Amino acid sequence: MKDFIYNIPTKVYFGRDQLSHLGEELKSFGNKVLLTYGGGSIKKSGLYSRIVEEINKAGLELYELNGIEPNPRVTSVARGADLCKEHDIDVILAVGGGSVIDASKFMAAGRYYDGDYWDFHGKKVPIEKALPLVTVLTLAATGSEMDTGGVITNPVTHEKIGRQADVLRPKVSFLDPTLTYTVSRYQTACGSADILSHLMETYFSREPGMYLTDSVLVGLMKTVIRYAPVACEEPTNYEARANLMWASSWAINGFTRIDKGPNPWSCHPIEHELSAFYDITHGLGLAIVTPRWMRHFLNKDTLERFVQFGIEVWEIDYNLPKKEIALEAIRCLEDFLFKDLALTDNLSDLGIDDEYFEIMAERVSNYSGAARFQDMSKQDVLDILNASL
Ligand code: NZQ
Ligand code: ZN
Repeated sequence: MKDFIYNIPTKVYFGRDQLSHLGEELKSFGNKVLLTYGGGSIKKSGLYSRIVEEINKAGLELYELNGIEPNPRVTSVARGADLCKEHDIDVILAVGGGSVIDASKFMAAGRYYDGDYWDFHGKKVPIEKALPLVTVLTLAATGSEMDTGGVITNPVTHEKIGRQADVLRPKVSFLDPTLTYTVSRYQTACGSADILSHLMETYFSREPGMYLTDSVLVGLMKTVIRYAPVACEEPTNYEARANLMWASSWAINGFTRIDKGPNPWSCHPIEHELSAFYDITHGLGLAIVTPRWMRHFLNKDTLERFVQFGIEVWEIDYNLPKKEIALEAIRCLEDFLFKDLALTDNLSDLGIDDEYFEIMAERVSNYSGAARFQDMSKQDVLDILNASL
């Protein structure tokens, strides 16, 4: 276990009746609020009216930015950051899924940056200051409600790049599972695949002696495996939605990575290339790529980890030969993703072919990977992508 500093300061209001605290929390950061949201789901569900009511009750000045797209673009970041400057906004209130929250993080930083906002991603300019961010989460998936990261797309260069900075972590997040009742079956499945992927990316690490962290990861993975199919079948099942929502936050808020040291992820960089070129749903891309990544890297060095994954997560009989346990674990994952969650199991059905695979593989293999569970060469990435077709 590595040395670490534990500092996960997002204040979380979890549960059904917590939005009544929204006004007081926003007020603690100032008077001018920029409300950001996506394509309209919050208007359809009635959440928008509730939020506006709370803001009015608290006597705050409201500004709005809507239309943030899934796989949010740098153009949306620019619109929001410019508004923050123009109106001297005090706090951003992001209401939505990961896309809205991610874009809002870079609007918050953009308030204090005078260059091209893509520099946060393209040039990795330092991010040391940002407006305070408050979130109301409507989709359990990315963990953006409690983490320091965000992923932005540049449609001109076909790049989708993640960036992290401590100042981007939301100050306060409202997690009301009932707000996810309206999430479609498809987005519920994709979101669950994303949560599971965050956990697997972290679980498959080289750091030994991680009993506590591994046990937490296993518990979180089993939570997703147990409740995602329930939420798909019964969208208003509170227990399922609540467990998924809390798992989403804890999968990636830093706690399960803090003591592992650097552990660059593998499937996420590949998926980000796919959504950069084809604008596909993040969780779906991960679902397709992950089992291929597993089969590709199942070898004598990694066997023990896959065996542990099979026994602990999928409860496979530990008396079986090791290789059989490992392969059965991958099969269980495939059944979960493609049968229980009914996600598409190949890229071809999404209209993707190998046209950009060379560029994608080149970029992924250049992405820092020295401490990765298994280092990935360009050819490795190409093999995984081709196997995903
Ligand atoms: O835009 P609206 O109308 O709100 O509709 C959204 C959108 O169409 C809809 N939705 C959200 N909440 C809803 C709802 N529909 C009905 N009822 C509700 N309560 O769902 C659609 C997808 O929303 P989006 O925010 O795009 O989904 P998600 O939360 O999965 O976010 C995906 C983005 O986050 C990035 C992904 O790459 C992708 O760009 N990620 C962010 C991470 C982070 N910040 O740490 C890590 C992740 O690995 C990921 O890369
Ligand atoms: Zn993800």
